[in-house]
Amino acid sequence: MNENVKIWGLGIGPGDPELITLKALGILQAADVVAYPAPANGDSLVRAIATPHMSGNQEEIIISTPMVTERYPAQNVYDKGASEISAAVESGKTVAVLCEGDPFFYGSFMYLFVRLSESYPVQVIPGVTSLAACSAELALPLAARNDVVSVIPGTIDAAAMEQQLMAANTAAIIKVGRHLGKIKNVLKKIGATGEAYYIERATMESQRIVPLCDLDDESAPYFSMIIVRRSGEILNL
Ligand SMILES: C[S@@+](CC[C@H](N)C(=O)[O-])C[C@H]1O[C@@H](n2cnc3c(N)ncnc32)[C@H](O)[C@@H]1O
Repeated sequence: MNENVKIWGLGIGPGDPELITLKALGILQAADVVAYPAPANGDSLVRAIATPHMSGNQEEIIISTPMVTERYPAQNVYDKGASEISAAVESGKTVAVLCEGDPFFYGSFMYLFVRLSESYPVQVIPGVTSLAACSAELALPLAARNDVVSVIPGTIDAAAMEQQLMAANTAAIIKVGRHLGKIKNVLKKIGATGEAYYIERATMESQRIVPLCDLDDESAPYFSMIIVRRSGEILNL
């Protein structure tokens, strides 16, 4: 381990507390301070995932994140979080920042990384991504040989989504939430509803799996994903 590093972005996996690496576990338990994002009016999912591994005696920095669509209030939140982490490091403490899944796979840790890494060495410890977890729980291998896998945010518009889906052998649609209706329409249009599987809260106790053709819901929780496997070598092994 690099002794100069005082800040870590720790991938702590997609939900099941056992899906943490040994390296992340060691750093989590040794850190003086544990920092993590939490919704302004609710509990932090990453803190809950890490709870079985924590003694309860560590200092905590809560990065309270309001659910807003505008960019600037959220940026202020990360400015404040970064300055609290900097203050801890300046006083000689080490800080582990908890990240759901992997820090650099669509993780909000990136906002802290860009603010802190010019002043301090910051090390990322990779984690089990939600993509890997959803694939495993659905028992759907993602790709073989020359197959192309695409990760598509459900937030993009329908035309762009259709284009991305048509270009990939396997696609994982993340950030489903209130975009479920649009996603269903696009998949129906390209004739892929029967090849799509919906999973929410993968590896958590409340995990739910439904073939998309049987899913009547009009919206989905934030922690949900749709995997579509339409073509490619994976189907002909
Ligand atoms: C901001 S991204 C964070 C991804 C995370 N850093 C990772 O490595 O998986 C959040 C999206 O990941 C997906 N996601 C994360 N955890 C999930 C889980 N346990 N089950 C299903 N989808 C999940 C959802 O699509 C969610 O909207």
